[in-house]
Amino acid sequence: MLESSPDLSADSLLAWYDRHARDLPWRIPPGYPDAPDPYRVWLSEIMLQQTTVPHATPYFLKFTRLWPRVEDLAAATIDDVTREWAGLGYYARARNLHKCACAVAELGGFPETIDGLLALPGIGPYTAAAIAAIAFRIPVAPVDGNIERVISRAFAIAGDATPKGWAADKKQISALVNEIVPPDRPGDFAQAMMDLGSGVCTPKAPNCMLCPWMDGCLARREGAQEAYPAKPQKKPQPERIGHAFVLVDGDVVLMERRPPSGLLGGMLMPPGSDWLETAQMTRTGAPVEADWQEAGEARHVFTHFRLTLKVWQAQKPMSAPQGMEWVNHEEALAAAPTIGRKVLKLAL
Ligand code: ADE
Repeated sequence: MLESSPDLSADSLLAWYDRHARDLPWRIPPGYPDAPDPYRVWLSEIMLQQTTVPHATPYFLKFTRLWPRVEDLAAATIDDVTREWAGLGYYARARNLHKCACAVAELGGFPETIDGLLALPGIGPYTAAAIAAIAFRIPVAPVDGNIERVISRAFAIAGDATPKGWAADKKQISALVNEIVPPDRPGDFAQAMMDLGSGVCTPKAPNCMLCPWMDGCLARREGAQEAYPAKPQKKPQPERIGHAFVLVDGDVVLMERRPPSGLLGGMLMPPGSDWLETAQMTRTGAPVEADWQEAGEARHVFTHFRLTLKVWQAQKPMSAPQGMEWVNHEEALAAAPTIGRKVLKLAL
């Protein structure tokens, strides 16, 4: 097992964090005696699973203004929550967020153990460790891709790019970082690692001159920072193709609610064809016969595939088919997921 050298210690990292911690709305200042509100820690971690700090911040501020306590979020309707979540992607998260808020309100507060946190909807090992360390000062380290990169460089772990090799390296990294968590400041340590990983020890062109671990970093000694970690190559993402139809009647547009579970479950989208991996050249999936005009192509990258939707638009007054509804343009744009907004913007 590797030892943490004085140049790669929690102390030097925390001294750096004391001076350079990012001021974020869910944080308390470094070294502050009180722990932050677990609700705000949990909410920020769920939002940050999906997106970056600058993108998540306005959502965090909006959610905590609308629902200042977990009980308030639990009392909201799922439609309100998914509507406010639109733009953060991954709607299963919004549903799990609401389910989790209900479970926590029922319990009378967040469980203060890793196992208790893991039992809640939408909370995996990373989020459980982050909440435990930051909100409850339990000495554990959340380990995500950023933190894996920092540790893999600092200790020159991971020269092996086979999937099996990298899986073993990840275990070693997690064990190592958990060994150096300082028992008195686990929350600051976790957030210091996050700040170091996202702002200094970046995937490309790391800012080593700003790094508190510069002198001890083994990858830097080798002059090979960017070679770590040597993760296995990802398979290229499959492409899917489909058609989307924007039917307009004055200031309303025809929208369809997707089935409650699955990708974009329960969200309002312009109707369309299935999304298939084989090229669909002919137009299929139109909600009605109309004089459909091409409006362009909308693209979106989901976790497991890239989607291209050919967008069609037409004007036609009619009564909404089963499962569809006429929605005001502004409301449709606010309620649709990002790919739906891209489709609507091309056609409205
Ligand atoms: N990324 C994930 N969690 C974070 C946090 N608490 N602060 C900053 N970036 C993060």
